[in-house]
Amino acid sequence: MCMANFEIRAKDGLARVGRLTTNHGSVRTPLLMPVVHPGKSLIQPQELVDEFGFEMVITNSYIINSHEKFREKAIADGVHGLLEFNGPIMTDSGTFQMYFHDLPREEIDPLAIIEFQKKIGSDIGTILDAFSKPDVGREQVERDVELSLDRAKLSVGIKENMMLAGTIQGGGFEDLRERSAKAMAGMDFDVYPIGGVVPFMEMYRYADIVRIILASKKHLPINRPVHLFGCGHPMLFAQAAYLGCDLFDSASYAKFADSGRMLLNSGTVHLENLSELPCDCPVCSNTTADDMKSLPNLEKSQALMKHNLFVSAGEMRRVRQAIMEGQLFELVALRARSHPTLMEAFHIMTTNMEQIIHSDPFGKTNSIFYTGSETILRPEITRYHTRLIERYPYRKTHSVTIVPDIGGRPFSDTANTIIDEVRKRTPESTILLFLTPMGVTPWELEHVHPSQQCIFPHSIDNATKSSVSEKLDEFLGNTSFTSLVWFDRESPINNIIDSLKINQRIIRVSSASAVLDAIGDSSQKTDWTLRKLKAVMSYQWDSNAGNLIDKMPVQVVLSRSTSKIRYVKSGDDILFTMVPTTGLLTPTYTGGLALLDAGISQDYIVTMDNEVAEFVADGKSALAKFVKKVSMNLRAGEEVLVVDEDHKLLGTGRALLNGKEMIEFSRGVAVMIRHSLNH
Ligand code: GUN
Ligand code: ZN
Repeated sequence: MCMANFEIRAKDGLARVGRLTTNHGSVRTPLLMPVVHPGKSLIQPQELVDEFGFEMVITNSYIINSHEKFREKAIADGVHGLLEFNGPIMTDSGTFQMYFHDLPREEIDPLAIIEFQKKIGSDIGTILDAFSKPDVGREQVERDVELSLDRAKLSVGIKENMMLAGTIQGGGFEDLRERSAKAMAGMDFDVYPIGGVVPFMEMYRYADIVRIILASKKHLPINRPVHLFGCGHPMLFAQAAYLGCDLFDSASYAKFADSGRMLLNSGTVHLENLSELPCDCPVCSNTTADDMKSLPNLEKSQALMKHNLFVSAGEMRRVRQAIMEGQLFELVALRARSHPTLMEAFHIMTTNMEQIIHSDPFGKTNSIFYTGSETILRPEITRYHTRLIERYPYRKTHSVTIVPDIGGRPFSDTANTIIDEVRKRTPESTILLFLTPMGVTPWELEHVHPSQQCIFPHSIDNATKSSVSEKLDEFLGNTSFTSLVWFDRESPINNIIDSLKINQRIIRVSSASAVLDAIGDSSQKTDWTLRKLKAVMSYQWDSNAGNLIDKMPVQVVLSRSTSKIRYVKSGDDILFTMVPTTGLLTPTYTGGLALLDAGISQDYIVTMDNEVAEFVADGKSALAKFVKKVSMNLRAGEEVLVVDEDHKLLGTGRALLNGKEMIEFSRGVAVMIRHSLNH
């Protein structure tokens, strides 16, 4: 029986802001669970909630079971009674203690510990997986993976009503991680922890952790939360979240405090080495380094613990907010600057962006701040370029004019005289490309996100420059033209002209009037709004959508104040509205009918169960649970058509999940309906 208990609210990269529901309430993810010891904790669970804002804790069922007084109280009053806490509690199994204290295999019975976790009412129990010691060699790691899988199979069969976490092992071997994840994914676990990373954490081997997460994530079901077991250092939260880790636990807050160390988002510092406290948490704001150093040991430890908790909780909030804003990449990039090993980890991530891009949602409105040469690898930028190459409708023209960016927005305002002339012409006569640090933007698509939203400095690094010339070469390679005109001007990327591979003569001119002379006269005139609309529709959907403009008489209504496109009408009906922040269109119901008639790609059509057709037709959200058919190419954030099983249009709206998620999730909204049959 599959429990539907995880719902996604927002996405960025592989990261998601989600809601996980347990028997003791629901929590927001990414989530950090402080580890509490049933007897020894200096800070009680309720205080963790009230004072620090945590929502869930994790404790250890093996420790509870092996101390008589904990065991009896837990059996009598449940783990919630033992911890005097009524919120969600996850329990671990003793795997880590087996590894850490090198206990004999008979120490814990793998099925008895599951039974015990059920008996004490744990909200999420954990299997007794086999933790691989570092550097034991591949064969031992393989045996640990197989043992974990055997136990997983038996454990999942007896979980009953308890949610159960099935841990991925495989040490530093990516193929073993994949094997483990693939096999575990076939079993009905509620949470998928990635285990065995503590030694990597301790050795600062963050690049290996990124490899381990990527290998595991490849095969894990996207409708279940992923827990990065033993990652309690805030400096890695942003990175791990961007790779799709939803749950974290921290024993570090206490362990580090016990040895006089302070966790910071940028690393670790020893209190003994400080003359100032480099932190603005309530603890550090109310004391000084010297005063803290002179506290008695227990109090010092408690103060450091509180500091560690404030910092860890704050970073997790920051991660969630960054996901909501589509800016987690920037936070990861910032953290990467804190330590060379984090930079190395970040580098492993940026060389594996193809695994991430499919999850990153389309149609975001976030600005993209340059953080360094990695910015051009961001999913938003790569996707824009890929779509442009695949979908831009004007491939055959007389002249191509290239206008390098000088930092003004909109780009057109920096080249008014030229744009006025281009607007009157047909695309067969001339096309115009703005060249910016993020790549090539044809004039028609200048308002499409993220071309206006990328904020780069005036001094541009060489990797960014090469990427611009590669992108331009690729665009020109896909276009047939007779003359190439370059508007020479004071732009940070003007000099990429020297590195282009194109072997056509480039006419370089340095004034607007010279550009106009160079592109020559054209007697054919056109309506620029239709020219632009066709490009946007082709980019947003496909050529069938773009061709609709040639087949159907439409009127385009411009904004009085900005003279940008606002609506597209047919007779009295509005078909599409242009969203100013994305430069993309939202179809009305009538617009949806027109797209359906035009035969747009199945990639943008979501088929619902007839059972809920009436609800959707009334404008209610299309729920993932009732999605019958959807393309695996559909990305979250796209504007889609929602139809019933007889292909009747029920409504139009924005996909909140990608195609794969719509099929796998049984909870949450698949498409937020904007316009519907009856509304
Ligand atoms: N705590 C830290 N690492 C692990 C792990 O790999 N497995 C389990 N069960 N608990 C852990
Ligand atoms: Zn502090």
